[in-house]
Amino acid sequence: MIKLTHVYKIYQPSVHALSDINIEIQKGEFVYLTGPSGAGKTTLFRLITCYDQPTSGAIEVAGVDLKKIKPQDIPLIRRKIGVVFQDFKLLKNRTVFENIALPLELAGIRKAEITDRVNLALEQVGLKYKGPFYPMHLSGGEQQRVAIARAIISKPGILIADEPTGNLDAALSEEIMDLFAKINAQGTTVFIATHNLAFITKGNRRVLKIDKGHIVEHVPSASREEIKYEIELDF
Ligand SMILES: Nc1ncnc2c1ncn2[C@@H]1O[C@H](COP(=O)(O)OP(=O)(O)O)[C@@H](O)[C@H]1O
Ligand SMILES: [Mg+2]
Repeated sequence: MIKLTHVYKIYQPSVHALSDINIEIQKGEFVYLTGPSGAGKTTLFRLITCYDQPTSGAIEVAGVDLKKIKPQDIPLIRRKIGVVFQDFKLLKNRTVFENIALPLELAGIRKAEITDRVNLALEQVGLKYKGPFYPMHLSGGEQQRVAIARAIISKPGILIADEPTGNLDAALSEEIMDLFAKINAQGTTVFIATHNLAFITKGNRRVLKIDKGHIVEHVPSASREEIKYEIELDF
């Protein structure tokens, strides 16, 4: 689903943002990417979402070799990947409904279908009645929910979130992470950069740790047997 092989990214003249990254994420996985500021997390996500190209190495997303993709096909790949950012990136002069509808409008979907799908997405993220509001009238947590609804409206197989809780307090962050878990449970592959260790230790998720452009640690998600064992120990 996402595969990076010997990926390097050097920003000229000499910033080695990523060095020999080898990652494979299967369909339906939930993976955290963690590491200090400047480690290379955003760079990695920008490569996967075709906003930048690696200096060398191969990247495959949803069966497509990104090196072989033509510029005119980049929007098609982007439709397969929903992206959520720390600062939400909502359009201020559009309502919540219009923000979420935008990717569908761009894809030329007809209006009646857009209305149905946006309403469903609003319900899914717990904002059923917020469609007519403008982003400025929503709390930070609600704005991030809108951004998540917009990211999943095209039914992407992959959802990438770059520090999605960086601007939120602990309680709201937990709600947002629960929402990602719900989306993952419906089959979407979820890949989240965060340096909030509280989440990482919760839920037995797979964790990739990056530092100075290198993957320095890889904690696989606990197998069912291990989780069962831990539950048994609680009694
Ligand atoms: N466009 C760019 N030009 C030059 N250097 C960059 C650029 N983008 C990021 N970098 C550098 O690459 C390294 C990794 O940055 P980044 O991927 O943003 O890390 P993170 O998201 O983990 O904080 C940093 O040293 C950063 O300064
Ligand atoms: Mg970053």
